[in-house]
Amino acid sequence: MDSIAEFRRRQGKLLVLTGAGISAESGVPTFRGQEGYWKVGSQDYHPMEMATHQAFAAMPEEVWAWYLYRRAVCLNAAPNAGHRAIASMEAHLQDRFLLVTQNVDGLHLRGGSSEERTFQIHGNIHYMRCDDGSPELTPIPEYFGADWAKGRALSAVERDTLSCPACPGLARPHVLWFDESYDEPLFRFESSLRAASESDLLLVIGTTGSTNLPLQIGEMFARRGCPIIVINPEPNPFTEFAASCAGGLFLEGTAGEHLPRLLGRLID
Ligand code: OAD
Repeated sequence: MDSIAEFRRRQGKLLVLTGAGISAESGVPTFRGQEGYWKVGSQDYHPMEMATHQAFAAMPEEVWAWYLYRRAVCLNAAPNAGHRAIASMEAHLQDRFLLVTQNVDGLHLRGGSSEERTFQIHGNIHYMRCDDGSPELTPIPEYFGADWAKGRALSAVERDTLSCPACPGLARPHVLWFDESYDEPLFRFESSLRAASESDLLLVIGTTGSTNLPLQIGEMFARRGCPIIVINPEPNPFTEFAASCAGGLFLEGTAGEHLPRLLGRLID
């Protein structure tokens, strides 16, 4: 079965799921690649420990400084052909399109994807919020720029500018940490699963499938027998889901290589 021809004939709904791999060609490191964020530590910590609420509670300045550095990496990066191809898919398909991204880098939005149809299920590194769980987001002050170096410490004055606008406490980065759970108000958990149950074609790009919600989305498509197309330089759990359903495809290679071509086949 040609799942793309079928998708076009039936005017189906497309769900796109992205991970760090789509931003690799923009120069943002992945997490589990050789130079990945979870691989390159320092003498003081293992980076996965920094991505916990427990670490934030114990050493908020260090955790903030590390996120300000990761945010600077994102500010120094620009959207690539893959981000732009996905934005074009949305522009053509409109309500027949939804993007679920694990990336906190904001590059999809800068590449032309709309906030309305982009569910950032792990947050957005350019925002902060109160530590009490309320969903109001505040942009990180412009003072913190693209030149924030790795390992730079936060001064007391700088710390004060990261205070919560609603209470006397320190704000926290708007990201999902390992000791936290998905929810609807902050991370669109239920909406993402609903979209997965209502879509006809799943396109998965640049992810190892190491987190729970993306895997649930893949499983849901496989259970429903709906086609999955995977773009990745190496196989992952989604390539197995894709192989299990009629019309599934594994396009081995990079996002920049395959996405513009796939755009041409989905839309003309
Ligand atoms: P990973 O680092 O686990 O995986 C990146 C994937 O991208 C791998 O499968 C690579 O093979 C692939 N890849 C590399 N370069 C690529 C390219 N140019 N084009 C396409 N694919 C490429 O990153 P994620 O799967 O996104 O969560 O990680 C998922 C989540 O785990 C992250 O959002 C983060 C992390 O813990 C949180 O922080 C909550």
